[in-house]
Amino acid sequence: MKRTISILLAFALLITLATPALAASGFSDVAADAWYADAVEFAQSHGLMSGTGNNRFSPDVTTSRAMLVTILYRNAGSPSVSTDAGFSDVGDDYYKDAVNWAAANDVVNGYDNGTFGVNDPISRQDAATILWRYKGEPTASSADFADENAIADYASAAVDWARANGIINGKGENRFDPRGDTTRAEMATILMNYLKEDEPAPSGSKTLVVYFSATGSTERVGGYIADTLDADTFELVPTNPYTSADLNWTTPGSRVNQEHDDPSLRNIDLVADTVENWDNYDTVFIGYPIWWGIAAWPVDTFIKANDFTGKTVIPFCTSSSSGLGESGQLLADMAGTGNWQEGQRFSSGASESTVREWALSRQR
Ligand SMILES: Cc1cc2nc3c(=O)[nH]c(=O)nc-3n(C[C@H](O)[C@H](O)[C@H](O)COP(=O)(O)O)c2cc1C
Repeated sequence: MKRTISILLAFALLITLATPALAASGFSDVAADAWYADAVEFAQSHGLMSGTGNNRFSPDVTTSRAMLVTILYRNAGSPSVSTDAGFSDVGDDYYKDAVNWAAANDVVNGYDNGTFGVNDPISRQDAATILWRYKGEPTASSADFADENAIADYASAAVDWARANGIINGKGENRFDPRGDTTRAEMATILMNYLKEDEPAPSGSKTLVVYFSATGSTERVGGYIADTLDADTFELVPTNPYTSADLNWTTPGSRVNQEHDDPSLRNIDLVADTVENWDNYDTVFIGYPIWWGIAAWPVDTFIKANDFTGKTVIPFCTSSSSGLGESGQLLADMAGTGNWQEGQRFSSGASESTVREWALSRQR
């Protein structure tokens, strides 16, 4: 009996391992690592797009004009509609209210021949135009696409707006492809970009103070900086913390001596090496004690694990007597990304007012 259970368990494990991971949306044709997985999840969880049956999302299927107005109508809360735009191809279908609502709100006009073109694929320039009108036709300027001349006059301002706000981006070679179709995966992405634009920016500080501190000095200084700038803090904690014996560099063979003598031992695992909401921070202070003239190496793990692109990074350190030296530059080289500023050294016992004054001088 026991043997049967373990065989069954082994089987279950094999099946789990063999099945590709699905995205949070749970659709069988949306893999967790698909570029549109987050967008599909967003569109689904906001009630904008549902599956196409049999637990499928059909990401590569083209979006029709009727589908887009239906999505917008749902987003508007499906209000009751009393007008009829009289499009000859809109019968008693699921999209009837949506199309009439969109026409009543000047979001769509339909074609000159009196039809709406319900099943026609929605072109990229028309998708931009419909969303732009729904938004109230805001003005925005942006650079021209290489195929700018191919964009219809009525869509020109809409495409500018869509580009300026990152709602519909160009394709390769700076082309917009105005008459190209929009797949359901692309539509989910466009909707996510569009609706997220309306969401309030996440509250909270845009400044983060990250530090490693073995004996509390750097932590104290980091705390002063965070208090002064109303910043968040993130402490780097080694999975295997340093004891006082570990830190004693006067004892030959102590942990720090071994790590100092053999750089291959300096890859220190941290309890956490990534920060929640990392994208929200535009300024990151990085603090560490000086060990043998350089940054204490537990910070290296954090530096290597994160992308500093677009962030201002300001190193600071504490030491008994050494200066900052090359420690900041070495970390900047290690990171390879980020706008690294000149750092600052504080003595281990630096006063609150000294740190506060410096922090204020670094405020942008
Ligand atoms: C292993 C080790 C090496 C150190 N090397 C230096 C050094 O080269 N220069 C220096 O001025 N202080 C050195 N110190 C002293 C620390 O930089 C200083 O005490 C620092 O403020 C400690 O910060 P913490 O309390 O945040 O760990 C060293 C300390 C340790 C434990």
